[in-house]
Amino acid sequence: MSSSSEKESREPLLQLTTASKPKRRALKIKHPICLIVLIILAIINVFCIVAAISYRLSSHLLSSKALESCAWSLLEEHVSLLDVPAISRSEFLTRQSTLASALQDAGVDAFIAEPSASSLYFANISTTYELSERPFLIIVSASGNFSYLAPKFEIGRIAGLEMAYDSKKVIEWKEEESPYEVLKRETGYAKVMVDEHVRFMIASGLTGVGVDVVPMSREIQSLRAVKSEAELAILKGINILTLQLVRSLQGCIKLGMTQNTIQTAAHGLFTKAGVGEGFWAIVLFGEQAASPHGGSSGGELKNGEFVLIDIGSSLHGYGSDVTRTILPSKSTVSAELMDVWNTVHAAQGAAIELMKVNETCSVVDATSRKVIQDAGLGEFFTHRLGHGLGLEMHEHPYLNGANDEKLKVGEVVTNEPGIYVTPEQAREMSKDVGFGVRIEDAVLVTENGGVVMTGARARSPWKP
Ligand SMILES: *[C@@H]1O[C@H](CO)[C@@H](O)[C@H](O)[C@H]1NC(C)=O
Ligand SMILES: *[C@@H]1O[C@H](CO)[C@@H](O)[C@H](O)[C@H]1NC(C)=O
Ligand SMILES: *[C@@H]1O[C@H](CO)[C@@H](O)[C@H](O)[C@H]1NC(C)=O
Repeated sequence: MSSSSEKESREPLLQLTTASKPKRRALKIKHPICLIVLIILAIINVFCIVAAISYRLSSHLLSSKALESCAWSLLEEHVSLLDVPAISRSEFLTRQSTLASALQDAGVDAFIAEPSASSLYFANISTTYELSERPFLIIVSASGNFSYLAPKFEIGRIAGLEMAYDSKKVIEWKEEESPYEVLKRETGYAKVMVDEHVRFMIASGLTGVGVDVVPMSREIQSLRAVKSEAELAILKGINILTLQLVRSLQGCIKLGMTQNTIQTAAHGLFTKAGVGEGFWAIVLFGEQAASPHGGSSGGELKNGEFVLIDIGSSLHGYGSDVTRTILPSKSTVSAELMDVWNTVHAAQGAAIELMKVNETCSVVDATSRKVIQDAGLGEFFTHRLGHGLGLEMHEHPYLNGANDEKLKVGEVVTNEPGIYVTPEQAREMSKDVGFGVRIEDAVLVTENGGVVMTGARARSPWKP
């Protein structure tokens, strides 16, 4: 019902009253039947107005604005979780000296990175400096000296970056020179280790002038994988806030809403909280979730369908990554789907317990997988269990079947088992519907087992 039908029903009434104005008094008295018709028309009119208003009201109640404002009233009190200091200058200097001693152990002269998560980690140089074909290389030597190689005409712009160092040496290269020859001439390095994200062009350029290039070692990888207290505080702040954001949505999502509505509200809530709009908001209803990263846009939320929400944002460069498979308060799903939810939850729990020092990454993955295999759904857990989380959304260590690395105290790794059954697969198993269920928390590795960085695990689809 819309305002046009309200207008249509009003028009006959107006015509009747205006056209018959002179006779109105006489009509009313002489023909009570007319009065009755008038009353009926008036009632219809009022009914239409009420219907139109309630339609407008209900479509407003299902809008992303309404969802956002409802959820914000639940989330606002948690925004102070973000009051965590950024990494201090002294921590950057400690990172550089720790790197230097690891380089001595590795027997290389220096570590070289391009603007990347590693340059952000060691020197506060973020990827806002876009890579170009002209090398800008950040260098930490085994003696602990910080320097960078930069195109001469970009020196001013690069000096404007808020880098962290004790003292620096700037190595300029002119357009008519080879940057690699300049680097070799100015430093005399014979053997360097390059960051894993350094482009092949850089590595081959160095090799081309006779510098021995070795890949980033596991020891140096794990400098960034193992988090400091300051980093853990930031990661906790943003991951707890992200879970609270999911909870605030759960408290306000209604049947009839669309995936887009919820996505838009999630971005709006991150923005209101002051951390940008967030990196992504995957929201999938029912069988749309059968593809772990999403299907097409889907219809309106119906009773009997799960809502899978996978979202993340960042604070001081550190990421959050949280997934919950939820139900609005008055919704239910079949007992079979509840079993699936409980299986995923149990798989997550089994792996969290194992996320302790010296446990092998592939064993943690296998432990979670076994719970799902035992439920007869092993083939539908199609991805690895998790990934490191820090300055990169996906970083070392990876919890997968091929990784024989051992976990270290202080690493933060997501634990995100899932079960995904497409409608076709569901039919083959004579099940009613396709579905996807995933539950994800970032977990801190400790001596005794994992501790969730979100503050609390999901308890049920209604208590995420
Ligand atoms: C690191 O860079 C950010 C801007 O990207 C700046 O706000 C912050 O103060 C810098 N930190 C240090 C220790 O220089
Ligand atoms: C850095 O290099 C200079 C020489 O350029 C040297 O005097 C200084 O001691 C070095 N600093 C460190 C921390 O090794
Ligand atoms: C973990 O392994 C390392 C190296 O094998 C060993 O030195 C350390 O004691 C182990 N830690 C624990 C808590 O078992």
